[in-house]
Amino acid sequence: MNALSHAPVLLEAAIVALDIKKNGFYVDATFGRGSHSRAILQRLTKEGRILVMDRDPQAAEYAHSHFQGESRFEFVSAPFSQLQLNLEARNMMGKVDGLLFDLGVSSPQLDDADRGFSFRHDGPLDMRMDTRSGLTASQWLASAEQQEIADVIKKYGEERFAYRIASAIVRERQEADIDTTAKLAKIVSRAVPTRERKKDPATRTFQAIRIFINRELAEIETVLPQAVAALKPGGRLAVISFHSLEDRIVKHFLRDLAKGPELPPELPIRADEYEAPVRLVGKPIKASADEIAENNRSRSAILRVAERTETEYVTH
Ligand SMILES: C[S@@+](CC[C@H](N)C(=O)[O-])C[C@H]1O[C@@H](n2cnc3c(N)ncnc32)[C@H](O)[C@@H]1O
Repeated sequence: MNALSHAPVLLEAAIVALDIKKNGFYVDATFGRGSHSRAILQRLTKEGRILVMDRDPQAAEYAHSHFQGESRFEFVSAPFSQLQLNLEARNMMGKVDGLLFDLGVSSPQLDDADRGFSFRHDGPLDMRMDTRSGLTASQWLASAEQQEIADVIKKYGEERFAYRIASAIVRERQEADIDTTAKLAKIVSRAVPTRERKKDPATRTFQAIRIFINRELAEIETVLPQAVAALKPGGRLAVISFHSLEDRIVKHFLRDLAKGPELPPELPIRADEYEAPVRLVGKPIKASADEIAENNRSRSAILRVAERTETEYVTH
């Protein structure tokens, strides 16, 4: 594996979860460097197809150079909140056999200093997955109110020193632009009074700003109903999350949908006659000790799986 490749997480488990039909139509909504897509393609005949999405232009470049000539494969360069739009354009809503989300950032994004995601590599403080649009982390930190910065760090980083960090950022930016990952890491490290074992003090702040800049949680909330509506009966949804904020959204959404509505007692339908639009498949899956030993990123991964039933489901 070279320095900027991506070691897939829960690859086998995700493929098993998708229960691949060899002539099926699949969506990998988070292509990255395509390990999951490749594994899906290997299980498809020439009748099968896979549509993949990623909003990172470097993922698009990788797809074009490495999947060129693969007629069963189509890449869409867009945020996955545009899933429904893209499936409707292909007349594929309600016809998908399996849909995979492997959330968060890829190793190439984290490991390339120029992308500005990591406090481990000094580079321009960017953090955008889609480098073609939106504010960089540096631009946002230069203009946001102290309260907004504190709220973001608290909410998305679950950082108890959010207010101290935000105040240090606002103080420092009066002296000089916070335009590199090293500068931000240093400000955070000085502002955080205690140290957690095996955790850089900047971890939570970097995670928070990254989630905010990329609207990561809103993307997930938007796409989940679209994903359920996209599946055909028997189709599978598999979602791999990497932190509790992501997983909480997925867990509650699937659990509530699988439970079905609270039916008013006067309704002439009994709860046991109602079938929810999805059923949960198995228990959430975590990486094995072996996988964690081989790939540390998998330590916080959790895979949830659901299957579409015959019950009608419309997005609002
Ligand atoms: C964990 S990586 C996926 C790795 C991939 N499964 C592999 O094996 O190479 C997540 C990828 O999803 C993309 N991504 C994250 N959120 C996205 C969104 N809302 N819309 C589109 N792409 C997104 C990122 O740019 C990144 O390339």
